[in-house]
Amino acid sequence: MLPLLTCCLFLLYSLYHVFAAAGSSSSHQYAPRSYPVVGCLVDFYWNRRRLLGWYTGLLAASPSRTIVVDRLGARRTVVTANPANVEHMLRGNFGNYPKGKPFTDVLGDLLGGGIFNVDGERWYAQRKLMSHEFSARVLRRVVGAALEREARAGLVPALDAAAASGAVVDMQELLRQFAFNVICRVSLGAKDPGCIELALPLSRLAAAFDAAAAISARRGAAPVAAAWKVKRALGVGSERQLRDELKVIHDAIMEFIRGSREKRPAGRDRDDLLSRMAAAGYPDEAIRDMMVSFIMAGRDTTSSALTWFFWLMTLHRDVEREVRDEVNACMRDHQEGFGVDLECSRKMRVLHAALCETMRLYPPVAWDSKHAAEDDVLPDGTRVGRGDRVTYFPYGMGRMESIWGADACEFKPRRWLTLHPDGVSPFKYPVFQAGPRTCLGKEMAFAQMKFVASAVLHQFDLRPVAEDTPVFVPLLTAHMAGGLKVTVRRRPPQQHNGTCAI
Ligand code: HEM
Repeated sequence: MLPLLTCCLFLLYSLYHVFAAAGSSSSHQYAPRSYPVVGCLVDFYWNRRRLLGWYTGLLAASPSRTIVVDRLGARRTVVTANPANVEHMLRGNFGNYPKGKPFTDVLGDLLGGGIFNVDGERWYAQRKLMSHEFSARVLRRVVGAALEREARAGLVPALDAAAASGAVVDMQELLRQFAFNVICRVSLGAKDPGCIELALPLSRLAAAFDAAAAISARRGAAPVAAAWKVKRALGVGSERQLRDELKVIHDAIMEFIRGSREKRPAGRDRDDLLSRMAAAGYPDEAIRDMMVSFIMAGRDTTSSALTWFFWLMTLHRDVEREVRDEVNACMRDHQEGFGVDLECSRKMRVLHAALCETMRLYPPVAWDSKHAAEDDVLPDGTRVGRGDRVTYFPYGMGRMESIWGADACEFKPRRWLTLHPDGVSPFKYPVFQAGPRTCLGKEMAFAQMKFVASAVLHQFDLRPVAEDTPVFVPLLTAHMAGGLKVTVRRRPPQQHNGTCAI
C-alpha cells in the first residue's frame, strides 16, 4: 500500500511540475524535474556523468538563461549563463558573493588560507602582494627564462624522441608536466642554478598535487556532501589518501621555505613572493598556503587549454596553417627555434584568436561558484537566498546562441578578429573570471600558451591516434578523458629573418 501511495505522490508532483514549467516563463520556474523531499536528486543522479551538457541544455531552454537546482543533501543552487547576472555577482554586488564557507569546507584541506580560498581583507592583502608577481618585468625575466629552460630540457626533446622513434605521445601529460615544472620554477625557484632544491623529485610533488586535487574535486561533486565528511572523520578511503598526499605537499613546501630562509636571508635583491610575504610578517604556514594556491592556479589551466588547442588544430588544418604562418613570421633569431618572446607574442593576433576560441568551447575552469552573504535578486529577477550557491558557467555561456550567434558551437577563431577593439565583455566570456577577482595570471597564461604553441607548431606536426571526439571532464580544472595521444613528425627547418615581422 505504502509503495503505491508513494508512486502516486511522485506522479502527481511530476505532472504538477510539467504544467508549472509549461505555464510560466519566469527564470526561477526553470529547473530540473523535482520531487518532494529529494528535489531534483533523481535527475541529478542520472545526469551526474554529463552535468555540463545537462545544465547547458536546461540553460538554453530557459528564457533568462538561469536555472535553479534544488536537491536533497545540497544547498539551493542558482546556475546562470546570463551576462547581466554574471556582471552583478562578479562586480556590481561583488561584496555579496564571496566564495563562502561551503567552498572552504571542500577545498580547505588542500588550499588552507591561500588566495583561492579566502575572502574579504585576507583575500585583498594577498592579492596586493601577489600582483607584483605578474608585472611585465617579472614575466619577462622569470617566466620567460623558465619557459625557455623547460622547453629545452623537457618538451622539445620529448617530441624529438617521439618523432625519431615513432612512439605515441600523450600531449596532455607532456603539457601538464611542462606547466608544473614552469610554475615550480617561477614560484619556488626549484631546480634553478643556485636555488634551494626541493627534498623530493618534482614528479612526486606533481603526483601528490594530482591526487589531492582530484579527491578534493570529487568532494565538491558528491551528490550528498555528508558522505565525504564521514569518511574524513573516520580517516578512511579517499580521505585517508588525501591526508597522506597533503602531507607530502605541505612537508616539501615547508622544508623549502625554511631552507630558503636560512640559506638566502631577505635582502634588498630579494623581491620574490616568498621574501615579500616573509617581510610582510606572514607566518610560514600562510606562505605555504599561498604557494599551494599559486601552483594550483598555474599548473593545469594552461595545459588544459593547450591540449584542446592542439586537438582542434588537427581538426582544422586551415586554421593551423594560418597560425603557423604567424608563428614562423614571429620566431626569434636563435637556431634552436624555441617559442616566441613576450613582445612578439603580444602581437600575435591569429594565435590569440585561436586560443580564445579554444577556451570559449573548452574553458579550463568550466564553472565557478560563490555563496550569497545576504538575500538578493539577480538582474533577471531570480531570487537568491542567503547561503545559496550561485554558479556562473563559462562552459555553457560559450555555447549559448544568444551570446555568440547561430554558429556558437562551431570553432571559428576569425570571429575574434572582427570584434570591437575592446574585445568581448568579460561577463559574456568569464573564462578568466571577471571583476575585482579576475585571474591574476591571464597575461602570464597567454605568454606561456603562445610560447608552447609556437615552439610545437614551428617544429612539429601532430597526428591524433584516435578519430573519436574526446570527452571534456570538468574537475577543478578541466581535462581531456584519456589524454591526447598523437604521433609526431619533425617539420623541415623554417627560414626566418630574425625579426618580428608582424
Ligand atoms: C588559461 C589559463 C588560465 C585560466 C583559464 C584561468 C582562470 C582563472 C579563473 C576562472 C579564476 C577564478 C577562480 C576562482 O576565483 O575560483 C582564476 C583566478 C586566479 N588565477 Fe588564473 N587562470 C589561468 C592561468 C593562470 C596562471 C598561469 C596563473 C599563475 C599562477 C593564474 C593565477 C591566478 C590567481 C592567483 C588567481 C586568484 C585571483 C583572486 O582570487 O584574486 N592563473 N584564474
